[in-house]
Amino acid sequence: MASTETTAKTPSGAAAFNVERIRADFPILFREVYGKPLVYLDNGASAQKPRAVLDAIDHAYKMEYANVHRGLHYLSNTATAKFEEAREIARRFLNAPSAEQVIFTKSITEAINLLSYSFGADFKEGDEIVLSIMEHHSNIVPWHFLRERKGCVLKWAPISDDGVLALEAFEKLLSPRTRLVAITHMSNVLGTVVPIKEVVRIARTRGVPVFVDGAQAAVHMPIDVQDLDCDFYAFTGHKVYGPTGIGVLYAKKKHLDAMPPFLGGGEMIETVTTDNVTYGATPHKFEAGTPAILEGIGLKAAIEWVERIGYPAIAAHEARLTEHAIARMSAIEGVSILGRAQDRGGVISFTLDRAHAHDVATLLDRQGIAVRAGHHCAEPLMRRFGLDGTARASFAAYTTEAEVDALADALVRVRQFFA
Ligand SMILES: Cc1ncc(COP(=O)(O)O)c(C=O)c1O
Repeated sequence: MASTETTAKTPSGAAAFNVERIRADFPILFREVYGKPLVYLDNGASAQKPRAVLDAIDHAYKMEYANVHRGLHYLSNTATAKFEEAREIARRFLNAPSAEQVIFTKSITEAINLLSYSFGADFKEGDEIVLSIMEHHSNIVPWHFLRERKGCVLKWAPISDDGVLALEAFEKLLSPRTRLVAITHMSNVLGTVVPIKEVVRIARTRGVPVFVDGAQAAVHMPIDVQDLDCDFYAFTGHKVYGPTGIGVLYAKKKHLDAMPPFLGGGEMIETVTTDNVTYGATPHKFEAGTPAILEGIGLKAAIEWVERIGYPAIAAHEARLTEHAIARMSAIEGVSILGRAQDRGGVISFTLDRAHAHDVATLLDRQGIAVRAGHHCAEPLMRRFGLDGTARASFAAYTTEAEVDALADALVRVRQFFA
């Protein structure tokens, strides 16, 4: 179960950031692809997993595995305790007031579907949901479901050409019919960080609840749902160095108590008779069936790994990389970077002359560099910029400046290929 020490303490007690020691925690980073060292710059899609996560899952399967919540035996009690510890760690990660406000789902996508089904249960025809134009499809399609099923209206907050949310225009979209604002904390395409406190403040003046999609933000910055004062916040485990198959939805207690369950089955009931069913209390009311036990335990290990390094250090490292990457890439003729927000994370979308993004990504891949290309599940945003797609490089705690340089050098070669 031992995990590699990733940080050393400075005299002031703060953790010193050492990217090589961090990399040592990730076995996959030492493999080659096509005989070249792997340069993994697809972290916005999913992060690699540190040994601490792999070991925690391996140990739990080997020594502590049983189903949770139902057993009266030792292993079941151990697994339950570990799983509930994971909920407590997720609570701490979000600074949620209580663990009962932390619901495990299989992903953020499932969390948003839960929200649209359960919180949207009493939405009526003509009720409005305000989104931003830079949402991921995960935070669009579940709201289209309400449009299709109930006749709800989707309204779209615009952004500037730099990729910054237009707050005044957003405010004007709010009306007496607005039932929810559903907005990203950080764009998975532009890297833009949205001023959520300001969004919540504006929505509050109209009594409108706010859901925040933290899929990208929770990887790069500390999240404090009490400080943000949002009604709902969600993130997905696999982007925060954790396993796939686990997501987290936080909600204010008053909403959870009022919302009907999403899925039905074991674990979520109080009593079931042939004529009736009553539901358990949150969070179990929203967790039907056997939960993602090992994935929860892996998520706990991932959060603890992040906490050992600390977000101030990770954020400072990623900010340095992003600045360096923007400087290097901007100097390459033909490269255009999409999104120039001041407050941004380590996600850089770009186009190269008129080359198709898939071709750019394929040519980078042959040089060992993994980036994503396409519409990034953000078609309305692509349309906003008149693009079919972009290539996207995204950074993590283990990304090095040398890898950013490798990307820039490779882009020069890709450009020569198209010349
Ligand atoms: C901003 C944003 N929201 C939601 C998602 C969906 O995450 P998942 O596929 O883990 O549900 C992503 C994934 O890329 C994302 O970037």
